[in-house]
Amino acid sequence: MAVRVTINGEARDIDAPEDMPLLWALRQELGMTGTKFGCGIGMCGACTVHVDGQATRSCSLPIGSIGDREVSTIEALGETPVGQALQQAWLDEDVMQCGYCQAGQLMNATALLNSNPNPTEEEIENAMQGNICRCACYKRIHSAIAEVAK
Ligand code: FES
Repeated sequence: MAVRVTINGEARDIDAPEDMPLLWALRQELGMTGTKFGCGIGMCGACTVHVDGQATRSCSLPIGSIGDREVSTIEALGETPVGQALQQAWLDEDVMQCGYCQAGQLMNATALLNSNPNPTEEEIENAMQGNICRCACYKRIHSAIAEVAK
Protein backbone atom coordinates (compact mmCIF):
# COMPACT_ATOMS: atom_id res chain seq x y z
CA MET A 1 0.00 0.00 0.00
CA ALA A 2 1.27 3.49 -0.85
CA VAL A 3 2.37 5.85 1.90
CA ARG A 4 0.93 9.34 1.60
CA VAL A 5 3.25 12.21 2.51
CA THR A 6 2.68 15.94 2.02
CA ILE A 7 5.76 17.39 0.35
CA ASN A 8 6.05 21.07 -0.53
CA GLY A 9 2.31 21.45 -0.08
CA GLU A 10 1.35 18.55 -2.32
CA ALA A 11 0.07 15.13 -1.17
CA ARG A 12 2.27 12.47 -2.72
CA ASP A 13 1.59 8.72 -2.69
CA ILE A 14 4.83 6.82 -2.39
CA ASP A 15 4.73 3.19 -3.41
CA ALA A 16 7.34 1.98 -0.95
CA PRO A 17 7.62 0.26 2.45
CA GLU A 18 6.80 2.38 5.51
CA ASP A 19 10.32 1.96 6.85
CA MET A 20 11.93 3.52 3.77
CA PRO A 21 13.87 6.62 4.85
CA LEU A 22 12.39 9.84 3.51
CA LEU A 23 15.69 10.63 1.75
CA TRP A 24 15.39 7.50 -0.40
CA ALA A 25 11.73 8.18 -1.11
CA LEU A 26 12.52 11.74 -2.23
CA ARG A 27 15.45 10.83 -4.42
CA GLN A 28 14.54 7.42 -5.81
CA GLU A 29 10.76 7.27 -5.74
CA LEU A 30 9.94 10.92 -6.48
CA GLY A 31 13.03 12.01 -8.41
CA MET A 32 13.60 14.97 -6.07
CA THR A 33 17.37 14.94 -6.01
CA GLY A 34 18.00 18.34 -4.41
CA THR A 35 18.22 16.66 -1.00
CA LYS A 36 21.60 14.96 -0.78
CA PHE A 37 22.88 11.66 0.58
CA GLY A 38 26.00 12.10 2.68
CA CYS A 39 26.47 9.59 5.48
CA GLY A 40 23.06 7.91 5.65
CA ILE A 41 23.28 7.63 9.44
CA GLY A 42 22.17 11.04 10.68
CA MET A 43 25.67 12.41 11.19
CA CYS A 44 26.40 14.94 8.43
CA GLY A 45 23.28 17.04 7.76
CA ALA A 46 23.46 16.82 3.95
CA CYS A 47 19.95 15.34 3.82
CA THR A 48 18.26 18.02 5.95
CA VAL A 49 14.64 18.86 5.13
CA HIS A 50 11.93 20.54 7.19
CA VAL A 51 9.18 18.55 8.88
CA ASP A 52 6.56 20.97 10.19
CA GLY A 53 9.27 23.63 9.98
CA GLN A 54 11.85 21.72 12.02
CA ALA A 55 15.22 20.86 10.47
CA THR A 56 15.15 17.08 10.16
CA ARG A 57 17.58 14.51 8.78
CA SER A 58 15.66 12.72 6.09
CA CYS A 59 18.04 9.74 6.00
CA SER A 60 16.86 8.78 9.49
CA LEU A 61 13.13 9.39 9.10
CA PRO A 62 10.93 6.47 7.93
CA ILE A 63 8.17 7.67 5.63
CA GLY A 64 5.60 5.73 7.66
CA SER A 65 6.33 7.88 10.71
CA ILE A 66 5.60 11.23 9.06
CA GLY A 67 1.80 11.04 9.19
CA ASP A 68 0.07 14.42 8.81
CA ARG A 69 3.22 16.47 9.22
CA GLU A 70 4.35 18.62 6.27
CA VAL A 71 7.68 18.04 4.59
CA SER A 72 9.46 20.90 2.83
CA THR A 73 12.56 20.37 0.71
CA ILE A 74 15.21 22.50 -0.95
CA GLU A 75 13.12 22.49 -4.14
CA ALA A 76 10.59 24.81 -2.45
CA LEU A 77 13.03 26.88 -0.39
CA GLY A 78 12.99 29.83 -2.80
CA GLU A 79 9.24 30.20 -2.28
CA THR A 80 9.73 31.42 1.29
CA PRO A 81 11.03 34.93 2.10
CA VAL A 82 13.76 33.69 4.46
CA GLY A 83 14.79 30.91 2.09
CA GLN A 84 14.98 33.35 -0.79
CA ALA A 85 17.02 35.84 1.26
CA LEU A 86 19.42 33.09 2.30
CA GLN A 87 19.88 31.86 -1.26
CA GLN A 88 20.75 35.43 -2.30
CA ALA A 89 23.14 35.81 0.64
CA TRP A 90 24.79 32.50 -0.36
CA LEU A 91 25.47 34.02 -3.77
CA ASP A 92 26.58 37.39 -2.34
CA GLU A 93 29.04 35.70 0.02
CA ASP A 94 30.18 33.25 -2.69
CA VAL A 95 29.64 30.48 -0.13
CA MET A 96 29.83 27.36 -2.26
CA GLN A 97 32.89 25.41 -3.19
CA CYS A 98 31.90 21.89 -4.31
CA GLY A 99 28.30 22.64 -3.28
CA TYR A 100 27.34 19.12 -2.22
CA CYS A 101 26.32 19.90 1.37
CA GLN A 102 24.71 23.25 0.60
CA ALA A 103 21.08 22.12 0.31
CA GLY A 104 21.28 20.76 3.85
CA GLN A 105 23.12 23.86 5.06
CA LEU A 106 20.45 26.14 3.58
CA MET A 107 17.58 24.09 5.02
CA ASN A 108 19.14 24.15 8.48
CA ALA A 109 19.94 27.87 8.24
CA THR A 110 16.34 28.61 7.21
CA ALA A 111 14.94 26.65 10.14
CA LEU A 112 17.27 28.60 12.43
CA LEU A 113 16.20 32.03 11.13
CA ASN A 114 12.52 31.07 11.12
CA SER A 115 12.72 30.24 14.82
CA ASN A 116 15.26 32.93 15.76
CA PRO A 117 15.44 35.82 13.24
CA ASN A 118 18.34 37.55 15.03
CA PRO A 119 20.74 34.88 16.24
CA THR A 120 24.06 35.77 17.82
CA GLU A 121 27.27 34.46 16.27
CA GLU A 122 27.35 31.79 18.94
CA GLU A 123 23.76 30.76 18.22
CA ILE A 124 24.56 30.48 14.49
CA GLU A 125 27.60 28.38 15.26
CA ASN A 126 25.68 26.11 17.64
CA ALA A 127 22.75 25.66 15.25
CA MET A 128 24.97 24.89 12.27
CA GLN A 129 27.64 22.76 13.89
CA GLY A 130 26.01 19.46 12.89
CA ASN A 131 26.12 20.30 9.17
CA ILE A 132 29.44 19.08 7.88
CA CYS A 133 31.17 20.80 4.93
CA ARG A 134 34.12 18.88 3.50
CA CYS A 135 35.36 22.08 1.81
CA ALA A 136 35.23 23.86 5.19
CA CYS A 137 33.17 26.82 3.95
CA TYR A 138 31.95 27.43 7.50
CA LYS A 139 33.09 31.05 7.75
CA ARG A 140 31.23 32.05 4.59
CA ILE A 141 28.15 30.03 5.60
CA HIS A 142 28.04 31.85 8.94
CA SER A 143 28.58 35.24 7.24
CA ALA A 144 25.70 34.61 4.83
CA ILE A 145 23.37 33.71 7.71
CA ALA A 146 24.50 36.80 9.66
CA GLU A 147 23.84 38.95 6.56
CA VAL A 148 20.18 37.83 6.47
CA ALA A 149 19.85 38.11 10.25
CA LYS A 150 20.84 41.81 10.22
FE1 FES B 1 21.53 12.19 6.53
FE2 FES B 1 24.21 12.46 6.58
S1 FES B 1 22.92 11.78 4.94
S2 FES B 1 22.77 13.10 8.09
